[in-house]
Amino acid sequence: MRILAVETSCDETAAAVVEDGARIVSSVVSTQVALHAPFGGVVPELASRHHLENICPVISKAMSDAGVSYADLDAVAVTRGPGLIGSLLVGVQAAKGIAFVHGKPLVPVHHIAGHIEAPFLAHGEVPLPALALVVSGGHTSLFEVPTRGEYRLRARTRDDAAGEAFDKVARLLGLGYPGGPVIDRLAQGANDRAVEFTVARIKDGSRDFSFSGIKTAVLYHVRREGIPPVADPSNVPAEVRDLVASFQRAVVTALVRRLKQAAEEMQPRSLLLTGGVAANSLLRREAALTAAALGLPLFVPPIALSTDNAAMIGAAGFVNFQKGLRAGLDLNAEPHLDLQ
Ligand code: KG4
Ligand code: ZN
Repeated sequence: MRILAVETSCDETAAAVVEDGARIVSSVVSTQVALHAPFGGVVPELASRHHLENICPVISKAMSDAGVSYADLDAVAVTRGPGLIGSLLVGVQAAKGIAFVHGKPLVPVHHIAGHIEAPFLAHGEVPLPALALVVSGGHTSLFEVPTRGEYRLRARTRDDAAGEAFDKVARLLGLGYPGGPVIDRLAQGANDRAVEFTVARIKDGSRDFSFSGIKTAVLYHVRREGIPPVADPSNVPAEVRDLVASFQRAVVTALVRRLKQAAEEMQPRSLLLTGGVAANSLLRREAALTAAALGLPLFVPPIALSTDNAAMIGAAGFVNFQKGLRAGLDLNAEPHLDLQ
């Protein structure tokens, strides 16, 4: 069962060929990070234009790297949402075109299902039910995965995603984009107790996340202390390094605390950590400690499968294909799409 998968929901143009939802035959990711960096975040209009320029070469490369022809495919899978409408449309139209011309089934995929399938793709068997923490630039959610391809939302962010908070704090301090990797690096060896930040708990007793408050707390701290934007990224003052380390510790503590609470309630047989922020070294360490304390295995995909890619869409596409999910040529991009 060979699937060509296409992903263009945000700022990566990606295509992959995946066999049986388990073997990555090829995976191509063309990132637009350099394009958006001067703006400190993704500019939707630029993103869609660049997807349009890159989609054909990226798909062609995925096909030639895999050494297969379109006739060898069994299906075409594509991210239909959620994401940026202009970006999603490029992938959806390209996938539709290929499916139509070559007479292949078209399989719609939810972007978050792709992130949740990434640990399965990377590690093979994962004991179920699993509890998945999906943490990226656009999403911060906890999902229960009772069986393969079944996802139950247990908590989500009420405002900013964790990765978005990293990006906004980095922008505020003049540290560049994307903020997560820079903050992760600058926090190494810095004093993460220098500033006491707390991440708000939702008052109605829900398990949801909220990260906009800590971003504002960082802003107030910067104003109060008169901290100027960093002029030389190769020489970041200790005060800024301690600040971002303290911010990172607060965000990671909130993520891991919720993960632990949810695991105690749900009693899963494994934990999954996925999405771009799963690359964070402190989060990886703390999630591993939490899993060990709970006596559960933790599955974290390698960074190339944690951040946006099409191989994970191929894995989720295989699961959907087996469930009998097909889309017609009237498939539309859905910028706001729930996964359940
Ligand atoms: O999954 P992803 O590639 O795209 C979305 O679906 O959003 O995630 C990108 C996000 C960005 O916000 C980026 O700052 C964050 O992941 N990120 C990190 C790290 N590496 C990437 N955040 C914290 N620490 C990192 N090492
Ligand atoms: Zn993503």
